[in-house]
Amino acid sequence: MNRVGSANKPCWFENRRLTSDCYLKESGMRLFRLEKNEDGETGPVLHTDAEAPDDPGPDEVRVRMRACSLNYRDILMKSGASASGGDDPVIPLSDGAGEIEAVGSEVAGFETGDQVALTFFQDWKGGPFDMKYHKAARGGSCDGVLAETVCVPAHSVVKIPAHLDFAGAACLPCAAVTAWQGLFERGSGPVTAGQTVLCLGTGGVSIVALQLAKAAGARVIVTSSSDEKLERAQELGADETINYKTTPDWDKAVFELTEKRGVDHVIEVGGPGTLEKSMNSVAAGGRISLIGVLTGFDPPEASLFPLVTRAVDLVGIYVGSRAMFERMNAFLAEHQIQPVIDREFEFEDAAAAYEYLESGSHFGKVVIRV
Ligand SMILES: NC(=O)c1ccc[n+]([C@@H]2O[C@H](COP(=O)([O-])OP(=O)(O)OC[C@H]3O[C@@H](n4cnc5c(N)ncnc54)[C@H](OP(=O)(O)O)[C@@H]3O)[C@@H](O)[C@H]2O)c1
Repeated sequence: MNRVGSANKPCWFENRRLTSDCYLKESGMRLFRLEKNEDGETGPVLHTDAEAPDDPGPDEVRVRMRACSLNYRDILMKSGASASGGDDPVIPLSDGAGEIEAVGSEVAGFETGDQVALTFFQDWKGGPFDMKYHKAARGGSCDGVLAETVCVPAHSVVKIPAHLDFAGAACLPCAAVTAWQGLFERGSGPVTAGQTVLCLGTGGVSIVALQLAKAAGARVIVTSSSDEKLERAQELGADETINYKTTPDWDKAVFELTEKRGVDHVIEVGGPGTLEKSMNSVAAGGRISLIGVLTGFDPPEASLFPLVTRAVDLVGIYVGSRAMFERMNAFLAEHQIQPVIDREFEFEDAAAAYEYLESGSHFGKVVIRV
């Protein structure tokens, strides 16, 4: 396999450049592109003269976007460190929701006016992951959603649960589907009532993981650098909380809270800087869903041997498929789960939304209205 990308920009697949059908044809509407701004820094740059997409192709739908949300991955995209980034000045952000305003001639199951969210991977409809799906990761290797209108394959949208508005639905495609896959779809089976789940931090993935795990009847432990955020986590149902700044040995605290057994599932969003403590926190036969890189891309210093002696599943999670998204939506509807939105920004203020997410002040999700 050819290896493309540079040392600080991991890339494990070929042909990252996308075919043209993922791109908007430019003509009189507003969109952002991730490119160098006036200060020479890469960020979202507003274009007010883009051409609106034509009528959708036979298999496409045209969506009037109404809300988008940010993920830490969008910060990585800006710095060039994301695994799913390309070299083109793409329309940023993977996550958005809106309403269908035109339907291609061969599209079944959707009609004008349907409220939909877009999938993170354009072409991962179901089944196991395949490296080819990297070629169309929205807001990275292909155009994303920070635009007034997008034209996308109909197989890459899902109807949004009736209890959610556009802002809530815009929080789902990356963070929620990732948490869902980690907790319900992989390894030793779905989280069940009576099990214990550990969520690291209070960002987008971890807070929706808390909500999903509580809805499944699990006991949830949440860590954070902020006591105030931990109080908010308790309001959402967290059973136990640990401040990982004031309790740097938080793995020992987890062990004490679980009568020295450990937790059944870890939502591991930290990466090399937290993996050792996550391994110390997990129970025999438990699962660590390896999701994030908040502490970087370096190899972990820790020995991986505890995974062997505890017979632990270490499962790599990469967002999820459209089929997973739909199964999650059914669960969200059944439990009437509302994504937690910390703050909403206007479309023109996208750069401020990025800065806010980057500051780490948020709890849950940050949304941009379109
Ligand atoms: N593999 C995938 O498919 C996938 C999908 C989505 C996200 N991710 C990755 O998962 C990670 C989280 O994404 P996100 O969008 O949820 O991020 P986010 O919303 O920006 O969350 C950031 C929060 O993480 C917490 N945090 C930071 N450093 C931490 C540490 N050392 N230990 C524990 N918590 C820490 C902080 O919470 P407090 O302020 O409470 O301390 C911070 O506010 C990112 O690395 C992202 O790239 C991967």
